[in-house]
Amino acid sequence: MGGGIAHVAALAGDDVVLLDREAKLVDAALAGMRKQMDRAVDKGKLAASERDAGLARISAASDWRTFDVDVAIEAATERFELKREIFRKLDASTPPRAILASNTSSISITQLAAATGRPELVIGMHYMNPVPVMKLVEIVRGIATASATFDTIRELAIRHAKTPVEARNFPGFISNRILCPMLNEAIFALHEGVGTVEAIDTVMKLGMNHPMGPLELADYVGLDTLLAILEVLHEGLGDPKYRPCPLLREYVDAGWYGRKNGRGFYAWADGIKSPRADLGPGGVPAFAEAAR
Ligand code: 3HC
Repeated sequence: MGGGIAHVAALAGDDVVLLDREAKLVDAALAGMRKQMDRAVDKGKLAASERDAGLARISAASDWRTFDVDVAIEAATERFELKREIFRKLDASTPPRAILASNTSSISITQLAAATGRPELVIGMHYMNPVPVMKLVEIVRGIATASATFDTIRELAIRHAKTPVEARNFPGFISNRILCPMLNEAIFALHEGVGTVEAIDTVMKLGMNHPMGPLELADYVGLDTLLAILEVLHEGLGDPKYRPCPLLREYVDAGWYGRKNGRGFYAWADGIKSPRADLGPGGVPAFAEAAR
């Protein structure tokens, strides 16, 4: 996500510092960006000069230092303690004027803001994946966010060629409050043997015109991320309807995170999916099914 946000920001004319904890992660994000931009140039949708100027606006960093920025957008893994730590560090390493935004999918902006000495400058700026393609940015105010902060971020989203929509600071905001229970329900349908992976995804693609089936989309979002969001919804809203499906939990326990590491409801290689031949009824490998 961080790479996607850097991509749209740089093409919109912003100078960007792309920070990750390891240089190889930043390099991988830059390589992915270059590949997407090259593809857009080949299709005639981006001028080679715009690509070159965009890439030249991005500098890489893998160590905390002072960052003289107007806006910092955090896009780390969906864990509160990790994000809180990053907000503390951003508070210490950016100028007092800087807005600190989180690309969180579900975590309270008020709680993140409380980790800083500038809660009026903290806000949610939730992009969707793949960032260069998806038009939405959800903007979320914490209880202490200033109106001027909201206005600046709204304008930034528009400059990034996105449509901003305001959501209240409730767990999952609007997007994941609605999307993640649907993905979870598809996993329950698989788990209970209502249909196969292919049947469930085909129903939603052909029957509801969704571009991806829910199980493919779950793999695309990342099963670990989906589980983390459902846990925030379940705990934060206290309603059993958000209970993560046990099959999702088991996949995550097994290290099957979806597209990002090659195995989920599908097998993935170089971003291309294929059916998992080992999965039997209920979404479990045939041998595990026999053993139950
Ligand atoms: N970066 C840049 N561009 C990309 C891209 C990427 N990672 N992936 C695809 N594209 C571009 C392609 O280059 C192509 O561009 P073109 O129209 O100019 O030729 C266009 O997107 C369509 O791509 P493809 O032809 O390869 O494939 P599809 O037509 O199947 O579209 C898709 C791919 C856009 C990913 C489509 O399947 C889709 O919209 N899926 C649903 C995505 C979705 O729901 N995202 C939200 C996830 S939830 C989320 O992010 C919130 C989080 O908090 C969980």
